This record gives sequence, C-alpha cells and structure tokens, in this order.
Amino acid sequence: MKNIFVFIGSPLKERSNTYTLTKMMIDKLLKLDNSIKFDLITARDVNIQACKGCWSCMNQGTCPLDKIDDMAFLKRKMLDSDFIIWGSPVYAMQVSGQMKVFLDRLASWYHTFRLAGKPGITVSTTAGAGLEEVHEYLKLVLNMAGVKVVSSLETYGTLPETLIDPENALKSAHKMVYEIYPYLTGEKTVETDKGLEYSFQVNKNKVIYGAEVLKADHRYWKENKMLEMNSFEELLNEIN
Ligand SMILES: Cc1cc2nc3c(=O)[nH]c(=O)nc-3n(C[C@H](O)[C@H](O)[C@H](O)COP(=O)(O)O)c2cc1C
Repeated sequence: MKNIFVFIGSPLKERSNTYTLTKMMIDKLLKLDNSIKFDLITARDVNIQACKGCWSCMNQGTCPLDKIDDMAFLKRKMLDSDFIIWGSPVYAMQVSGQMKVFLDRLASWYHTFRLAGKPGITVSTTAGAGLEEVHEYLKLVLNMAGVKVVSSLETYGTLPETLIDPENALKSAHKMVYEIYPYLTGEKTVETDKGLEYSFQVNKNKVIYGAEVLKADHRYWKENKMLEMNSFEELLNEIN
C-alpha cells in the first residue's frame, strides 16, 4: 500500500483551482489502483503559524510552534508517505503566502534531507503568468528536502472554481498519472540529478562550516553518517 501526501497552499479548499487540478489526477490514479492512499490537505484545513525566526529547529532540533499548531502532524504525514506533492496557486508571481508559511516551517529539513529517497511533483495554476517561477521554486525547496522532482502539473484558472480550459486540465492531470504511477509500483526508482547533488554540496558545507549555529542539523548529519558521504547518490544508496 502506497501513501501520497499532498499539500495545496490555497485558502480556497475544494473551490481552489489548484486543488481541482490535483484532485483530477488523484481520482484517475485511484481508478487505476484503489489500494493507493492519499492525504490531500489544503492551507485552509490546517492551522500553520508563521515561523518566528528563533532558529530552534536548526539549533535544538525542535520547533516551539509544533506544540501549538498542525505542523508536527503534517511533518509526520510527509515522513510516512511514499510520494510528495506540493502545489500552490500563483500569487504575485510566486507561491501563495500560505504556501510560504508552510515551507518556512520546514527550514531545518532543507539542511538535513528528511524526505530523501521520495519522489514528488509540483502543481500550480495561474490566471496568466508565474508558473515557471512557482515550479522552479517548489522544485528547489523539494530538492533541498531531498525529494526527487519527477514532473510538474499546471493549468490556467481565474476565479474560484474556474478553470479556463477544464478539458485540457483533465487531459494533463490524467497524463500525469502515468508519469507518477511507475514510482508507486516500484517500476521506476529515484535516481539522483543535478538539483539533488547541488543541494547535497550546499548542505554539507552549511552544516560543516555552520556547525555552531546549526547544532541540531550537524548532529543529524553525524548520527546518520552523512558527513562521511560525498554525494546525494551515496545517501540514496544507503537509503535503498
Ligand atoms: C491574491 C492573488 C494573486 C494573484 N496573482 C497572480 C499573478 O501574479 N499572476 C497571475 O497570472 N495570476 C495571479 N492570480 C490568479 C491565480 O493564480 C489563479 O486564479 C489561480 O488559479 C488561483 O488558484 P487557487 O484557486 O488554487 O487559489 C492571483 C490571484 C489571487 C487571488
């Protein structure tokens, strides 16, 4: 049984175009294989407080806000999943504020590859522009968390519940199913790429030279014998 974790950074819940596009894909996937389980969570479904900038996650290994909101629950869901989907509408040419608040709360994960070995995709919708910026940014943060981004899904939409070309959106969503399903069956496995190797080098340098301020992140690398590794590929080999 495979678990998919989806977080959509739109405040519109089921009325969100990004949610609708993602749901088209999930529905098709379930038709293909109803043993697949998924959590489809939107920014409206959960309480996520904005990061206070205390550095505790990177220094102590804990976030004080995790005790008072839903972020600990979301982190557990992501760690337990086999496939990660992060989606956001384009707001002011980037991800929505709600998405950014969610992403900021994972700051220490971008130093420690907590999601290493998992495949994932990015999803976005826009009224006109900004898709490239959103996919690129989401891919970067997913890579920093260790996720191999295997594809991206997008379409155009305007008001709530208004896709500009629903037929085409459905086609793209259905096509995406055949890109991600082989990762769920094991027919395809995660391989390293340029983005993941870049993240590895950046993070290794960060935790070595910033060991004093990134105490918890450095400890994580040490405990998991990652300091002895020289590439993301080595980490993947260790995981698999
Ligand atoms: C606050 C806000 C900002 C937006 N900014 C942009 C923008 O910069 N460029 C653009 O083409 N569309 C923009 N849009 C349109 C949305 O990207 C589009 O309607 C999207 O489908 C909304 O997704 P959602 O329904 O999942 O929230 C914006 C919409 C809102 C509400």
